[in-house]
Amino acid sequence: MRRCVIARGRAIFESSEAQCTSCHPKEGDYADRMVHALTPGGGGFDTPSLRYVSGTAPYFHDGRYASLEDLIEKCDGVMGRTKQLSADQKTDLATFLRSL
Ligand code: HEC
Repeated sequence: MRRCVIARGRAIFESSEAQCTSCHPKEGDYADRMVHALTPGGGGFDTPSLRYVSGTAPYFHDGRYASLEDLIEKCDGVMGRTKQLSADQKTDLATFLRSL
């Protein structure tokens, strides 16, 4: 059961709509190690690896996202696209991220 939730979350992560892998490619331990300016005027930050990301809350350099659910809910347009996801799909994506 959990395995299939993770597989669904992975498919969302890798989808062209969500765009996550454009900056977090699997080959680079889920990071392109490049600087991206995600917020206007906020300066640029290296894409961090998503390995063991479940244990590193809060998220972003300034800790603006309290949890992975919070990040997925609010990162649309800042980092990838999550607005199109249903509540179940957001849960699947969070479960996948916790499995890394
Ligand atoms: C344009 C490049 C880009 C895209 C697209 C992108 N990310 Fe990121 N991601 C980053 C950068 C850069 C950071 C670090 C931001 C910071 O610390 O301010 C980050 C941080 C994160 C973090 C927090 C890591 C930590 O330890 O704080 C998670 C989780 C994450 N991204 C997941 C995703 C997911 C899920 C998607 C797809 C919906 C996605 N990212 C799409 C560049 C990107």
